[in-house]
Amino acid sequence: MKAIVLKEAGNVENLAYVELVKPTISEGEVLVKVKAISINPVDVKSRAGKGVYGRIKTENPLILGWDISGIVEETKSSDFKVGDEVFGMVNFPGHGKAYAEYVAAPANQLALKPQNISFEDAAASTLVALTAYQALVHNAKIQEGQNVLVHAASGGVGHIAVQIAKHLGAKVTGTSSAKNKDFVLSLGADSHIDYHGFDWKSAGRTFDFVLDTIGGDNIDHSLEVTKEGGSIISIPTGLNEEVTSKAESKGVKGYFILVQSSGDDMKQIASLLESGAVKPHVSKVFPFEQMREAHLEQETGRTVGKIVVTL
Ligand SMILES: NC(=O)c1ccc[n+]([C@@H]2O[C@H](COP(=O)([O-])OP(=O)(O)OC[C@H]3O[C@@H](n4cnc5c(N)ncnc54)[C@H](OP(=O)(O)O)[C@@H]3O)[C@@H](O)[C@H]2O)c1
Repeated sequence: MKAIVLKEAGNVENLAYVELVKPTISEGEVLVKVKAISINPVDVKSRAGKGVYGRIKTENPLILGWDISGIVEETKSSDFKVGDEVFGMVNFPGHGKAYAEYVAAPANQLALKPQNISFEDAAASTLVALTAYQALVHNAKIQEGQNVLVHAASGGVGHIAVQIAKHLGAKVTGTSSAKNKDFVLSLGADSHIDYHGFDWKSAGRTFDFVLDTIGGDNIDHSLEVTKEGGSIISIPTGLNEEVTSKAESKGVKGYFILVQSSGDDMKQIASLLESGAVKPHVSKVFPFEQMREAHLEQETGRTVGKIVVTL
């Protein structure tokens, strides 16, 4: 099968095209013939030796990627049959091995792909959708009427988080630069903040919950506008070590979460996609042969919605 291995941490030249034998599946797993893969900042960070590289660096061959959609070709699980169309985030934060024609995936990390969405849209609704869902539903437990601020609302996590928060009945504000304002409002956000030059100190403490996708100074900015007794989840690794203490000093609960593979959560996301409550936005699609270009695009930090690679 075609696959892309990471020879060693570094630049995109280290992503090498190889032929490998198809993976064999163990009890509880299915073999998925991959149709689409979505790319995340963690793919790029891990390729460069950060992200989850430390957890997987001794694997050989080392295959990056976690987000897949595809068709079940073999099964050792009663959850899926051959021919089922599935999607999910495989083995995160471990070795997902998604940059390949075939992926061995634990059945309990997948869900059936809704018939009304494409393989590209399904692949785009895995890691970022699980992150948004786990943050808003399991951790923050967002309630109807709450005031929610989503940073980088035009990005992968943010654009899904806006839609899930709206679905939960929250009043949602999203941040991005001015060029993405219309996109953020089109997701259902009630209002928009252009983060360039915004006066956070004078804005008032109005938010019950903040999803921080930026880290660093953005934590301080966010706390200026979070109500006492509110909460903030900060997700970018390496840029949020101080979130808990900074939040505490403002009377706010602050913490980091790391998204986890979950078939149960994927089923919830599948039903949000099926009903149309959540619609992923795929802004760029690359063929498998252009994985390096897809990484360079993701690396710009300017992605609107998601970047997807197809096979
Ligand atoms: N802990 C976890 O489990 C977890 C899970 C998923 C993601 N993450 C991390 O969360 C971060 C975001 O991920 P993502 O996939 O959403 O990234 P992304 O798709 O690459 O985000 C790109 C978007 O960010 C916006 N942006 C850039 N700087 C901004 C700023 N200062 N304020 C507001 N918006 C800004 C850009 O809009 P403009 O061009 O308009 O600026 C762009 O649309 C990454 O660091 C990622 O590694 C962590």
